[in-house]
Amino acid sequence: MALQLGVNIDHVATIRQARRASYPDPLSAAELCLCVGADYIVIHVRGDERHMNEKDLARLCKSYRKYIHLECNSSLKMQKMALKHKPGSVCIVPELPNEVTTTGGLKFTPKNFTRIRQMTEALQQKGIRVSLFVDPTAQSIRAAAKCGADIVELCTRDYSEAKNKKEQAKLLRDLALASLLAKELGLEVHAGHGLDYENVLPVADLCGVSCMNIGFSIISRAVLAGLPNAVCAMKELL
Ligand code: PXP
Repeated sequence: MALQLGVNIDHVATIRQARRASYPDPLSAAELCLCVGADYIVIHVRGDERHMNEKDLARLCKSYRKYIHLECNSSLKMQKMALKHKPGSVCIVPELPNEVTTTGGLKFTPKNFTRIRQMTEALQQKGIRVSLFVDPTAQSIRAAAKCGADIVELCTRDYSEAKNKKEQAKLLRDLALASLLAKELGLEVHAGHGLDYENVLPVADLCGVSCMNIGFSIISRAVLAGLPNAVCAMKELL
């Protein structure tokens, strides 16, 4: 099966929220992405709803439910939100106060493990597929399998931020081993965080990885690629 792409459109909402305006509308962004071949639309509804909010989730699920991949923390509040709007899949991610973006995979302390397993079961009972965002370590992959997840999303943040080629090659090997172990344990394997047009291909080529979730680099490129069109339209009007 061809490698799939989930496009994270959080930063469309970031631009909207800079003015608390009604545009750019994430629903229009989702439509455009799906029209040109994106396989999933990824949105992260954070506890503080600083970019995407519950209303966005509701509208996106109403139009494109099975394509919506919701990222959220493991709180009961988020569980209730997901069960209410029923996206096709949910990725449980850790969230730290004041972080700029997600900083790594889930930490499976005994308390977290129990909570993540409960949430995984509750979502699956309503037909929602569950992904767990994990660091590429054997321990995390085994914990995710024990939680009963359908999918693991391997965190590529460290790989993306590697200081040099040698470090990047080592981190790529970690991802390769993690992917193989996850497949062996019957998990579907996704990867994401910090991937861009320069660093994505080695990860895309890893055995077992079936979907890449990418946001910041795509939305950044879209802003520059779309700028000539937007300026021309305004000039024409004037
Ligand atoms: N996957 C997960 C679990 C994430 O938290 C994020 C960031 O929201 C992404 C993928 C996309 O990362 P980026 O925006 O750096 O491509």
